[in-house]
Amino acid sequence: MAKDWTSSGVDLHLEPDPSGGRRDALERALRDAIRTGRLAPGAAVPSTRALAAQLGVARGTVTAAYDQLVAEGYLTARQGAATRVAEVRPAEPEPPGTPAPGPSGGPAWAGSWAPAGTESAHDLRPGRPDLGTFPASAWLRSTRRVLTSAGPEAHALGDPRGRPELRAALADYLRRVRGVDADPERIVITSGYAQGLGLLARVLADAGTSAIAMEEPGHPYHRMIVARAGLGVVPLPVDDLGARTDLPPEAGAMVLTPAHQYPAGATLAPTRRRAATAWARETGGLVVEDDYDGEFRYDRLPVGSLQGTAPGHVVYAGTASKTLAPALRLGWMVLPSALVEPVAEAKRLADAHTPSLGQLVLADLITGHAYDRHVRAARLRYRRRRDALVEALRRRAPHVRVLGVAAGLHALLLLPDDGPGEDEVMARAAARGLALQPLGEFWQRPDGRPRGLVVGYSTPLQSGYTAALDALCSVLRYKT
Ligand SMILES: Cc1ncc(COP(=O)(O)O)c(C=O)c1O
Repeated sequence: MAKDWTSSGVDLHLEPDPSGGRRDALERALRDAIRTGRLAPGAAVPSTRALAAQLGVARGTVTAAYDQLVAEGYLTARQGAATRVAEVRPAEPEPPGTPAPGPSGGPAWAGSWAPAGTESAHDLRPGRPDLGTFPASAWLRSTRRVLTSAGPEAHALGDPRGRPELRAALADYLRRVRGVDADPERIVITSGYAQGLGLLARVLADAGTSAIAMEEPGHPYHRMIVARAGLGVVPLPVDDLGARTDLPPEAGAMVLTPAHQYPAGATLAPTRRRAATAWARETGGLVVEDDYDGEFRYDRLPVGSLQGTAPGHVVYAGTASKTLAPALRLGWMVLPSALVEPVAEAKRLADAHTPSLGQLVLADLITGHAYDRHVRAARLRYRRRRDALVEALRRRAPHVRVLGVAAGLHALLLLPDDGPGEDEVMARAAARGLALQPLGEFWQRPDGRPRGLVVGYSTPLQSGYTAALDALCSVLRYKT
């Protein structure tokens, strides 16, 4: 009887641990035997009566241990049949402290959202503002005002679209600053743009859309969100004029970053803007305008929103992640009327609504103009940082081209064909304690793409920026 416990050659070496108790010791021994393969998948374990007698423990102890291992997936039990070792073993637990695979100590999926590894003295990866300049005092004052005046109702569940105070404040702000055709009734507050994109993708999928066109290069995390909703991602090529909206995609929607293409940095040309809205009107497709850094333009006034030119066909999406902080998880969408109800329902089903307190504080910040003041100061700071980056590269790494308009919180640096490639630059950067993000990570289909780096000049604290720039320039030196 090959599958009989006593003839299978298994030796549990069960020595009850005085600190743990007999049942714990039995469970540990069985888990160990299964993990190491001493107990093979499918093998029958002895009856509770037989094992209890063999070990000199109460039968209830063995029954309890078996029940626990069935619950954990190590064993399977069926009424009237022998208890057996499960065919599919539970995943091996990782030894404590095992690092997840990925750059700079972060898991691969996290990309630039992973914190820099402790070995990185400098971080120039894109994706966040200088968190040292978060307007903590203004936020505190607004919080105090909100908590003093709002009353208990502020803590009750509310409209899935979000607090009316914030929707009203945003409608005024977005009309004034970004030329958005905004109405508080058509605004849905989300937990960041990422959630808004996911909700839209689900609503579109429910309505029969099978694919969304997304800029190539573009944000890999956003492609993953769309794919997760079961939609195909059609690459929309990008050139110096922004996304190729003049090449109508086979898709039910297109996601664009018109003010400042992410990550290449072009502003969508007027002809391309018209092509996008014409495509939407002609095909009934939807344009999603990701206006993630629209407030930050340094060489001229920011280009107004695309949504303002075709509000019935464009979703305007904004976020506090660049102006304030990404961990606030505060984003907003201004929707065409027909999408308000389905998106609000998707939001209600996802998480009822975005936490009210943060919404109320942001509303207070906006209506009191502390938000405008903060953005103005940030714009000046980032402009100086970008100028310093361009100047430092001009002097110390003139072979590296800075692509894109003077805007936003990041710049694309193109590496020359005859110099070190992305892998070598990344290796040098790691050795120098500098966290960087290669352009390659932004491509869905990387064949034939240019080589470069996407540099987030807003990421370091002000006190560390000069040293980070110095590290970057030394990493980008042409000859070793
Ligand atoms: C292209 C782009 N869109 C949107 C966002 C904002 O995302 P969220 O509001 O989810 O933080 C980011 C932030 O890094 C971004 O890079």
